[in-house]
Amino acid sequence: MSKEKSSDLKCKTCWNSIQEIPRDIILGINDEYNNDKFPQKVNLAIGCYKDENGKPYILECVRKATEKYYKENVNHEYLPISGSPQFCKLALELAYKSDFKYMDRLAAIQSISGSGALRIGQRFLYQFYPFKKKIYYSSPTWINHLIIAKGTGMEIGEYRYYNEKTKGVDFDGMIEDLKKMEQNAIVLFHVCAHNPTGVDLNHEQWQKVLEIVKEKEILPFFDMAYQGFASGDVDEDAYCVRLFANEGINMVLAQSFAKNMGLYGERIGCLSFLTQNEKERLAIHTNLERIVRSEYSNPPKFGSYIVSTILLDENLKKEWLEELYKMVKRMKDMRIGLKQKLIELNSKLNWDNLTDQKGMFSYTGLTPEQVKRLKDEYHIYAIKTGRISVTGLTPSNLDYVAKSIIEVTKE
Ligand code: LMR
Repeated sequence: MSKEKSSDLKCKTCWNSIQEIPRDIILGINDEYNNDKFPQKVNLAIGCYKDENGKPYILECVRKATEKYYKENVNHEYLPISGSPQFCKLALELAYKSDFKYMDRLAAIQSISGSGALRIGQRFLYQFYPFKKKIYYSSPTWINHLIIAKGTGMEIGEYRYYNEKTKGVDFDGMIEDLKKMEQNAIVLFHVCAHNPTGVDLNHEQWQKVLEIVKEKEILPFFDMAYQGFASGDVDEDAYCVRLFANEGINMVLAQSFAKNMGLYGERIGCLSFLTQNEKERLAIHTNLERIVRSEYSNPPKFGSYIVSTILLDENLKKEWLEELYKMVKRMKDMRIGLKQKLIELNSKLNWDNLTDQKGMFSYTGLTPEQVKRLKDEYHIYAIKTGRISVTGLTPSNLDYVAKSIIEVTKE
């Protein structure tokens, strides 16, 4: 009886030593924004495209594909463990190009958006990569990269990427760090629209990186969360993926349709491994399936249906590419607009970075204190690293945001 009592007590107190941790630095701020009742509040925190009225944007092609989904009365049966084969084929063609010469060497699965692809990819590497189980990320990188890597057991390293002074790429630092890495290191590369800095490598720089990757037999793990969101052109934005893949080297790719099709909450993406032959492809594919089975059994259907419907239908695909271009144009206009307003208001700082950087994010150079003041005094939400998501800017809040930035950067 007394024995039973003591085990009962242990069970009741077993969570006592767990400490509360800070909220996620991106999604946590987003929750704070949602709870803010101030009418003029502005959300520059989360990377989630908004229209010119600051409202969530449903792409017209997605609306049409959704109508088709309901008309066709699609059933609710399970998808295969690795997702819809048709979706995977179309996603791969979009990333690698339809005439990619090593298409039949790709082991691919539908993933729970880009994060799910990163998670499953690194789970696989942790279990099977025969070299050091360490992955190098750019400094800085998307905060969730580090959380995911840690969760899979991978050791984390970093390479220099951003130059605070020039507010551009620290290419010399990056090359020096890549050269210093151990042979067969795993390196995560942001394909385009780097999150959080908005600064990307040019073609010539990718070529140099490729040379080092080949020399050091680095395993490149590409994260392509923003295909089309940097330049407005899906082919241009996939440049480095295709450059490396055409060499036939081993590589990994995480794709997401959250941003470029506005399917954030549908969690749709693709994970692919470029392998050397059919034996390896099958081995990797079946092991990825085993991991998926243990993590979530099989992926959801809706997002893969929507993406496949759009990519399969010539007209819908054309419409999508046009809408994508318009979203990018709006973000570029907002970058230009904010810079102009800051100049008009006689800001002493240089804001060229706003228009030099690409995609959804800009690394403004605002300090954590300035970001805090923006939130506390003006209800403008940004990430404490100074990252803003330019999609939260609209023609009607540009003035307010610029004036507030002037106030917090005055001294
Ligand atoms: C972001 O960086 O704001 C987005 O990718 C959303 C997220 O999940 O962090």
